Amino acid sequence: MQSSIRARLIVILTCLLLGSALLQGILLSAHIGSLEALADHWFTVGWSFLLVAGLSIWVVIWIAKDLTRPIEQMTQAAQKIVAGDLGQHVFINRQDELGVLAKSFNHLAETNQRRYQEITASKAQLETVIQNTVSGIFLLDAKGTVFLSNPTAGQILGFDPIADVPDHFSRLTADPKMSQALYDAILAGQPYQQTISITVPAQRVIELHVIPLTAGDRFVAVFYDISEASRLASIRADLVANVSHELKTPVTSIHGFAETLLSDNLVPDSTGRRFVEIIYRESWRLLRLVNDLLDLSYFELDPKAIEKRPVDLTEILHDVVERAAQQAKDKQIDLKLVIGVQSAITLGDDYRLSQAVDNLVGNAIKYTPQGGEVRVNLQYENNGFQIAVRDTGVGIEPEHLNRIFERFYRTDKARSRQHGGTGLGLSIVKHIIGLHGGQVWLESKVGVGTVFYVHLPSEAGKSSQEA
Ligand SMILES: Nc1ncnc2c1ncn2[C@@H]1O[C@H](COP(=O)(O)OP(=O)(O)O)[C@@H](O)[C@H]1O
Ligand SMILES: [Mg+2]
Repeated sequence: MQSSIRARLIVILTCLLLGSALLQGILLSAHIGSLEALADHWFTVGWSFLLVAGLSIWVVIWIAKDLTRPIEQMTQAAQKIVAGDLGQHVFINRQDELGVLAKSFNHLAETNQRRYQEITASKAQLETVIQNTVSGIFLLDAKGTVFLSNPTAGQILGFDPIADVPDHFSRLTADPKMSQALYDAILAGQPYQQTISITVPAQRVIELHVIPLTAGDRFVAVFYDISEASRLASIRADLVANVSHELKTPVTSIHGFAETLLSDNLVPDSTGRRFVEIIYRESWRLLRLVNDLLDLSYFELDPKAIEKRPVDLTEILHDVVERAAQQAKDKQIDLKLVIGVQSAITLGDDYRLSQAVDNLVGNAIKYTPQGGEVRVNLQYENNGFQIAVRDTGVGIEPEHLNRIFERFYRTDKARSRQHGGTGLGLSIVKHIIGLHGGQVWLESKVGVGTVFYVHLPSEAGKSSQEA
């Protein structure tokens, strides 16, 4: 490149010289009088031409060298940078454009080197974190090729994290459940979470999270061994289930006897009767608590305990609203069902789904003052069915919203107790809807009202037709 610049400069300047010599000759001849007379002075003209030409060529070569030397220097430095030697610097002290170019080159080289060092340092940090984290990590592509894994992944799934990293997720473990979950996550193409029990290399419970990276063709899988935590949780759920079970029979009989005493008028009007009434009411509350606790431990101990078959949500909602009609009437609450689909078939357990919606409608009536409104709405939305239970009740303060589904969480304990609440209703709703692959959330404004939404998947091929 530089030599071509030099050659071009030489050719251009030689042409200029020849041209000027020719012009000089013509002018001289014009001066002398005729071209013939020029022939007499050929020797002088020739020598002066050669002298001027030689001098010009020397000047041109000098200029060309002066121009190309810094460019050559920068080219060599650039080639070294490309080869990996990033600490390159050119020493060109000029005031012209080449000097500016050299300064920019040095600045670029320094910035480049600094960035490279920063990237190398953060890559090293990231690698240290990945290698030492207590979670198993994989980087996969959409075909299931494993690009990266860490020692914890090897420990959990039973492969040698250094010598024997499987190149495809299907060979990560002999237990097919992990591979199946990774396959499902890649197919889903969106954040995915699953709890899996594997038996090979050992009995383990694994919590898996798969996140697609922005480009969508790579996935990060992060997983933890939660065997110990899930063992403790199942011991706790077992204990709660056993205690509730043991309590259920005596509490039922206390309640039954209190009822008999009251209905047979065995206790005449007196303080005694008031006491029996309290026993009757409190044992009823206790019985509901025991039943709610039994339900919760039932869901926790066997997450697959729900029997799924095609059910029509429109029928479930009609039944729920019919059951709640009396309770609403007692409080002069206007309860209405608005159904925007002809049928709403989902795969589920109709008893449990009714229980969930019963809880939401019951809450809406309980926490709405006399004369208010409760609307239960069903429509097709986002490839599924959305139930909305809307009330014009007391509302929930924003600070309670993300804890409202926790067991025993009540915004106002006294009010809840006064309504016979156990504080377990919403927790049960969340479990039931989760076990059906759905979601539950809410919007609320204090003094205006609350809307609880439930979204359930539509059974494939049986999506609703708009009414
Ligand atoms: N529709 C609603 N409007 C206002 N507050 C509500 C509503 N639904 C639930 N809550 C609040 O959420 C708490 C938890 O509800 P839940 O789990 O059903 O328990 P509870 O047995 O107290 O009804 C309730 O105590 C109440 O404070
Ligand atoms: Mg409730």
